[in-house]
Amino acid sequence: MRIAIIGAGYVGLVSGTCFSEFGVDVTCVDISEERVSNLQKGIIPIFEPGLDTMVKRNVDAGRLHFTTNLADIIPQADAVFIAVGTPSRRGDGHADLKYVYQAAEDVAKHLSGYTVIVTKSTVPVGTGREVKSIVAKTNPDADFDVASNPEFLREGAAIQDFMRPDRVVIGAETERALNVMRKLYQPLYRIEVPIVATSLETAELTKYAANAFLATKITFINEIADLCEKVGANVQDVARGIGLDGRIGKNFLHAGPGYGGSCFPKDTRALVRTAQDYNSPISIVESVVAVNDARPAKMAEKIMAACGGSVKGKKIALLGLTFKPNTDDMRESPSLYIVPELLKNGATIAAFDPKGAEHAKTLLPDITYAADPYETMQDADAVVILTEWNEFRALQLDRVKDLLKTPIMVDLRNVYKPEEMSEAGFTYVSVGR
Ligand code: UDX
Repeated sequence: MRIAIIGAGYVGLVSGTCFSEFGVDVTCVDISEERVSNLQKGIIPIFEPGLDTMVKRNVDAGRLHFTTNLADIIPQADAVFIAVGTPSRRGDGHADLKYVYQAAEDVAKHLSGYTVIVTKSTVPVGTGREVKSIVAKTNPDADFDVASNPEFLREGAAIQDFMRPDRVVIGAETERALNVMRKLYQPLYRIEVPIVATSLETAELTKYAANAFLATKITFINEIADLCEKVGANVQDVARGIGLDGRIGKNFLHAGPGYGGSCFPKDTRALVRTAQDYNSPISIVESVVAVNDARPAKMAEKIMAACGGSVKGKKIALLGLTFKPNTDDMRESPSLYIVPELLKNGATIAAFDPKGAEHAKTLLPDITYAADPYETMQDADAVVILTEWNEFRALQLDRVKDLLKTPIMVDLRNVYKPEEMSEAGFTYVSVGR
């Protein structure tokens, strides 16, 4: 089979590469000449574990191609995936669909033979139907169907999520379209991955419902963590105690500085907006958004309290800047709110992040960047763990203590055990314990 993927960003690149690993002939189309020429040379624009070797393997095997030229590719494609960005529209939280609709129009002009046009980007309910009408209007003779096939890829684990998903959701209006989609995912039948075949609208809403539910789970445990601190309970034990109930499940119950990233913040806001538009508000998700928005300021307060009530004139060592480990992505990272808050209150900050520093430098220019975790700590008044990178899990505590002016650690990811830290002579503050 042959497919085209429009948009060689995170979702497009991972999906395209994984489809080529399945044996499908894939061409990723992007408007950026620079991105395409880099990809042709094997230079990957994002950090995703395992992606570079998989790209190389499939490029070498002649199954994965990159181009800026839509016209050459679309006529031969059995399916065209639209995987362009859907940023939050400024001001109102709605997803901005201009890139999706532009892609639909561009694709329509070059269709030849039966083609399934698939939305892979996270798009609000009704987008698939709008794509259908744009294509039909642009090219009245086109023989096509529209399908919705939302991704559930976690950054840092995206390849595994694509190759071994919990399920594949496919919204399609005809058997013919569904068959094309089933054929593309055929390699997953061997590992018995369930295919959830639905209408377009259901598939579109499923994606938002999944992300909103996960964001709710995180926010729930974060608020339980706050209560734990007040009543002297331990949130990790509470999470284990409830998570072992199969109806609740143990994943996504880690308390921390709030969720960030390219999906949860954007998708929860978009769902809230859609629900309001249809006069069917989802107040639970509205609360989740508000609670999570307020969380970084709370974390900054926690850091200040640990430093004796103020960070004025103090140096803070910050470990981790990305919204989670194993990514260089800084989008909506709690650090983007916590750092300015600490600076505003008079702190100086030295930070280290294994992959995010380059990008962080443009977003957080007023702090210094260290070459390793220990360099941040030289004469610092406190060290703060903001992202749970593996290399922060086994710090040499003696060395940390020697470097710090005062042995204060604020662990916003509950990486260390409170007893172990107090035995090591630290004033240790974590989340919900
Ligand atoms: C998410 C979804 O998991 C994925 O299915 C979707 O398609 C895209 O959005 P991603 O944003 O890459 O993926 O990261 P994820 O691992 O889900 O974490 C999101 C945020 O929640 C991070 O900031 C993380 O630190 C936070 N989180 C996650 C918690 O605070 N506690 C948890 O228990 C889990």
